[in-house]
Amino acid sequence: MEHEDPQQPRTPLHVAIIMDGNGRWAAARGLPRTLGHRKGIEALRRTLDAARTLPISRLTLYSFSTENWRRPTSEVKELMRLLRFYLRSELAALHREGVRFQVIGDRKALPPDITTMIERAEDLTQDNQALTLTLALSYGGRQEITSAMRGLAKAVERGELRAEAIDEHVVRSFLWTGAAPDPDLVIRTSGEKRLSNFLLWQSAYAEFVFLDVLWPDFAGEHLAAALDEFWSRERRYGATHGCL
Ligand code: FPP
Repeated sequence: MEHEDPQQPRTPLHVAIIMDGNGRWAAARGLPRTLGHRKGIEALRRTLDAARTLPISRLTLYSFSTENWRRPTSEVKELMRLLRFYLRSELAALHREGVRFQVIGDRKALPPDITTMIERAEDLTQDNQALTLTLALSYGGRQEITSAMRGLAKAVERGELRAEAIDEHVVRSFLWTGAAPDPDLVIRTSGEKRLSNFLLWQSAYAEFVFLDVLWPDFAGEHLAAALDEFWSRERRYGATHGCL
């Protein structure tokens, strides 16, 4: 039986989370869906606090998908309002905690005042190194890959790139995530077991952990349990590979 050495530092992980179940959390209490999203912001803060105590160097959170634009206008408005609230109320704390803040997604689709707030937050926190927090906003994996293909085609058209020179490395450099490392672990809450257009290219080798907890109830213990699951799988696979 293999035993972990508690003194042995773990390699810090990139954890990506599909934060799902706000609506169901609210419905179960007879509350409007938007209240579920509000509670979701609190879970976001708890998750970040927990991540800072765990070997996690990056957190990427699916906060608003390309498909979410199709929700009722009132819900989209409330999500944008919450995003403004989040950026306004959390930025100072994020900076103080050494968190680098980033956004991936189709920024042009976001309201201009939010884009400005995002740019300001990214500039302010760009040298922070404790943890990188990336919000995926107006994000879709297929849209990201399509945009990368368009960028590649334009570069070829301009004569800056030869088609033969396009390899995985070049494709990656055109993705919204740029040079960022791939997620090691993708967690989805609420019992759903789908990727829903999240980090399609980047999660090619990720481990997936699906939890039944609804996002507004997510807390440090859930994050820690997902990491334990990740490490237990890593140990098993290590043994298998050793036999090959
Ligand atoms: C899924 O719940 C959640 C989202 C639409 C995105 C996550 C949003 C938050 C955590 C709150 C807002 C955060 C920011 C930073 C703006 P759902 O509505 O799909 O739940 P359901 O599947 O139960 O209906």
